[in-house]
Amino acid sequence: MAKKKSVSTFFKCTSCGYTQPRWMGRCPECGEWNTLRECIAEESPYPAPFGSHGLQTRERIKPLPLSAINPAEGERFFTGIGEFDRVLGGGAVKRSAVLIGGEPGIGKSTLLLQTAAAIRKNTENAQSAVSGTRGRVLYVSGEEAASQIRARADRLGAENAGIEILCTNRLEDIENALNALNPLCVIVDSIQTVFSADAGSIPGTVNQLKYCAAELTAWVKERDAVLFMSAHVTKDGSIAGPKALEHLVDTVISFERNDDHIRFLRSLKNRFGSIDELGIFSMGERGLTAVEDPSSLFIVRRSGTVPPGTAVVPVFEGSRVFLVEIQALTVPAKAALTRVYSEKIDNARVSRVAAVLEKRAGLRFSDQDIYINVAGGVRLTESAIDAALAAALYSARTDIAPPEKTAVTGELSLAGEIRPVHRLKQRAKAAATLGFTRLLGPEKEEDVVHVCGIQDLIKTLFS
Ligand code: TYD
Ligand code: MG
Repeated sequence: MAKKKSVSTFFKCTSCGYTQPRWMGRCPECGEWNTLRECIAEESPYPAPFGSHGLQTRERIKPLPLSAINPAEGERFFTGIGEFDRVLGGGAVKRSAVLIGGEPGIGKSTLLLQTAAAIRKNTENAQSAVSGTRGRVLYVSGEEAASQIRARADRLGAENAGIEILCTNRLEDIENALNALNPLCVIVDSIQTVFSADAGSIPGTVNQLKYCAAELTAWVKERDAVLFMSAHVTKDGSIAGPKALEHLVDTVISFERNDDHIRFLRSLKNRFGSIDELGIFSMGERGLTAVEDPSSLFIVRRSGTVPPGTAVVPVFEGSRVFLVEIQALTVPAKAALTRVYSEKIDNARVSRVAAVLEKRAGLRFSDQDIYINVAGGVRLTESAIDAALAAALYSARTDIAPPEKTAVTGELSLAGEIRPVHRLKQRAKAAATLGFTRLLGPEKEEDVVHVCGIQDLIKTLFS
């Protein structure tokens, strides 16, 4: 006969999550005092979904026949901010949590407020079309006073968008507001400011961050809503806090800037789309506006001849192609050790291309300091830039200017071959559209001059 189960209990640390069978004054794992709480053993070891009182409901853990699952679950809607929708993978996904990281002052609050207003506007239109669609947006700020948010909204022309504002640091306040409003979209600016007494006594700990983010994520997953959380990331890239949330959320987006007013939105993780898409904005007097023609930022328009040390390459960022100017400068090294100064292209790539030029084209770089810049400050990671990088380096080192209206693309092998790149046709088309009459590339193609190796490339370009 089956033995009747008795209710057993255990003790769980509210600071670090450590569990053990007996109560103790001090957690043996993290050393915090008075943090052990009694729990019933049937309780799930995972963060409980909000509103379920710590117990997983039978419904949630029961397997379902695949055919009984509603494919519309996790359905998308457009936020109305095109560049943001693109990076999200074609709009926001219901029941998903999105984390937006960026350094202070980059424009996270601005982006989120503009997104809130755009969602309101978009879903209002959709509401008449799809009955039952709700479009409320709750904007929670733990950093700013309501009046500050209002002032920003005035600046952005979003004051009458119908966004609900809640200024609080307490998770419980947010949960109450969520249950009362039942919004489609919840914005939390920033998640680092949210605090819950249930997650241990110390505000600002990783445990707090994880607990609050998990509770809010659980809420949107149960209620068909979407959660956007902002998080501060310091300039040197130390993202200790937000990093702890990366596995917990569905999408991680990084907000970056160039030296000027241009802002880049890039996804680092996306359960619902590609991570190659790049959103480009310009920060102006009235907030962020989409940059429709990115090539206008990344190539330098000049009248007359092109200076030495430059090369133009068509690059793909996700589904879009645009033209970018790479700039190189070489100067004799002052120290015995030479250096590569390159922020936007990986140093290792620059060194490798310089080494290939040294070996295969007989041009000495091993006694030179190399400086590489990319016009517009966009980061380039595609291998299709190799040939253009080689052209810019060659031109810088020899002081021979490249011909006008010529772009270059191709991957460079260590043997000095120019290797194929994907979607060459579209690259050629983009170059032609912007007035480049010649594209040097790795294959025979309409509007492409075929170059097979580094020497061929140099001969075609510079003689
Ligand atoms: P903010 O969104 O507050 O940045 P974050 O939340 O990431 O800290 O924006 C900060 C900067 O943006 C601030 O220096 C002011 C500037 N800004 C504009 O240039 N134009 C605008 O319309 C707005 C709202 C802000
Ligand atoms: Mg802010």
